[in-house]
Amino acid sequence: MKIKEIYELAIKLGRKSDFRSKDQIDTLLKRVKEKYEKLSVKEKKVFDKQNLTNPYSDSRILYGGPDKKIKRIMMGIDMKEAELLLADRLGNIDLVISHHPVGIALAGLDEVMALQADVLNQYGVPINVAEGLLKKRISEVARGVSGSNHNRAVDVARLLKMPYMCLHTACDNLAASYLKKTIEKKNPQYIGELLDILSDISEYREAAKRKAGPKLFTGSRNNRCGKIALTEITGGTEGSPEIYERLAQAGIGTVIGMHMSEKHTEAAKKAHINAVIAGHISSDSIGINLFLDELEKKGIDIVPASGLIRVKRNIKDNNKYQNSNVKPNQKPK
Ligand SMILES: [Fe+2]
Repeated sequence: MKIKEIYELAIKLGRKSDFRSKDQIDTLLKRVKEKYEKLSVKEKKVFDKQNLTNPYSDSRILYGGPDKKIKRIMMGIDMKEAELLLADRLGNIDLVISHHPVGIALAGLDEVMALQADVLNQYGVPINVAEGLLKKRISEVARGVSGSNHNRAVDVARLLKMPYMCLHTACDNLAASYLKKTIEKKNPQYIGELLDILSDISEYREAAKRKAGPKLFTGSRNNRCGKIALTEITGGTEGSPEIYERLAQAGIGTVIGMHMSEKHTEAAKKAHINAVIAGHISSDSIGINLFLDELEKKGIDIVPASGLIRVKRNIKDNNKYQNSNVKPNQKPK
């Protein structure tokens, strides 16, 4: 596959599993285009043109020609300087893919957070409230990431001539959609049942062995779930702590997230929301795995790294943890 085909596949799958409708995403892109057309020549020069076609500004090709043919990739949660050097040292990696955003994708992390407002709205929070609360949080995130040395790892990739990409929200959407379908199918009534459903998912089972399995941050196993919301699996990073009160008023009993800060946990507790924290790296792994299964079907060799819990779902040993299908230093087929 060419680099651009891998990238386009990720965006296509991310859009397909996005909680927003196709129309909502198309309208959003149309509005970006309208804004772009009104810009001055000078403003157009620095405008990020990827935003015209890609709704996930945290998922990008960071280095490498789009037509370069790829046979083997190394993908993991945080693929930065060390992992790029590792890929170079292994000597048989054609492309490094990081899940967490790097470079321009990190600088644009706040741009994907608008997705959360639409998801909250789907769960019954009025859009004006969701947008109002998120606006403050989005500006906090934008300021938070603005001071970092965004391009450090991208420069390593450039100097090593190692093709480099990151796929964040595109993969998180796959995880969110998978979890939603799995939970809705089983329709748990009690928090204990919900935790058991999560614990049966291979990535979470493997994470539990690493002492990082699903945990209950607020509530108890004997609590009723009420309506379950998956508001915190995709959409960049943690939203506003003030949202839990609003979610409770909108009829939500339980929130499932990847991770939760103390501030957010306290706010969820105060709002009587059960907070089921599935696990960060394990939840990230679910989305990445669903994407990697599609790449493997197309003949791409996968080398998992940087904490990724690789589980395949498209083969006979369905849903089994498998560290890698490639031995270190094995030559490409
Ligand atoms: Fe993550």
